[in-house]
Amino acid sequence: MRKFLMTTAAMALALGVTQGVARAAEGVEVLHWWTSGGEAAALDVLKKDLEGKGIGWTDMPVAGGGGTEAMTVLRARVTAGNAPTAVQMLGFDILDWAKEGALGNLDDIASKEGWDKVIPTALQQFSKYDGHWIAAPVNVHSTNWVWINKAALDKAGGKEPANWDELVALLDKFKEQGITPVAHGGQPWQDATIFDAVVLSLGNDFYKQAFIDLDPAALGGDKMKEAFDRMTKLRSYVDDNFSGRDWNLASAMVIENKAGLQFMGDWAKGEFIKANKKPGTDFVCMRFPGTQGMVTFNSDQFAMFKVAEAKIPSQLEMATAIESPAFQSAFNVVKGSAPARTDVSDEAFDDCGKKAIKDLAEANTAGTLYGSMAHGHANPASVKNAIYDVVTRQFNGELSSEDAVKELVSAVEAAK
Ligand code: BGC
Repeated sequence: MRKFLMTTAAMALALGVTQGVARAAEGVEVLHWWTSGGEAAALDVLKKDLEGKGIGWTDMPVAGGGGTEAMTVLRARVTAGNAPTAVQMLGFDILDWAKEGALGNLDDIASKEGWDKVIPTALQQFSKYDGHWIAAPVNVHSTNWVWINKAALDKAGGKEPANWDELVALLDKFKEQGITPVAHGGQPWQDATIFDAVVLSLGNDFYKQAFIDLDPAALGGDKMKEAFDRMTKLRSYVDDNFSGRDWNLASAMVIENKAGLQFMGDWAKGEFIKANKKPGTDFVCMRFPGTQGMVTFNSDQFAMFKVAEAKIPSQLEMATAIESPAFQSAFNVVKGSAPARTDVSDEAFDDCGKKAIKDLAEANTAGTLYGSMAHGHANPASVKNAIYDVVTRQFNGELSSEDAVKELVSAVEAAK
């Protein structure tokens, strides 16, 4: 008996080792755009988790916030018949790839692990196609945030701006302090990220009509003209070198007391944390003035591509690892996002993280949770890119607000 037990144990061990080696040999090849300091620190949580399970990691980073460049590289890889195992992806892009039949099937593990019950419907919309799981959601970010340098805010009186006029007054005070009021990087996706918040601040119904319903009356009306006027005003507060600057370098300006604030999604918090800055002490996080109670979200998901049979076990193990509640907490604490599951405790999160989780749940209940236009959760890439183009040209003074609303209507119509 004893001998039998030992033999079984030895066999199990041998089997485990062999499987481990096989998995490590196959490993996972992961395409992503998490290349800033905070993003890389978060990605490391995933790499280490998989390494601990004997799954090798081949890194395919493609720099460029918002993932525009990553999606171009992906297209080339798939066209060459060489799809990565897993690809960081946003919203409608996932559905586009699913439509092309390029994605695998995660149904077995999703049903075994009960994903349906814990992943919010707003995310499932993009993790499932035709009723089948095709992607593993990692997190929920949102775009309508402001990241303020605490010392600069205190010098300006310490009050968080509650509305547009107070925001403008605060930016004027930052100017008087001799710092750059708005840290910004002039790239289309960053301009669009601010636009998400500005449009939302003019009413959650307005955001829905404009970006979700693509209603020409909302896209071309007076409120949209006002949104563009506000963009012109914000443009007057950026520094001369803003053009082309990466978003994390703009975050660094706030971190290093060179700028007053940044309008950016909560991945910016990852940069503050990486620089050892504390919320409430070194920086303040708040919703864009006028948008408390509303959330424009984007969820990073790993779309799982159809790969050779031998690679499927590691692919599925990666998906399982991502959805584990412990990983969801550990990763999102570092990334600045909220967990992609509703049953993860907020205990390990700082005050901004706790707020993100609470705001999300409240907006979901109130019906004021919308997909982010800027980050591919409101429309397919064709429409998103058409909006980017108009927003960036207007922000750079190439279009008046009057012309921008007209162009917005026609560009969206043509892209639909
Ligand atoms: C992604 C974030 C990422 C940010 C900047 C967003 O689209 O959802 O995870 O940190 O782009 O790169």
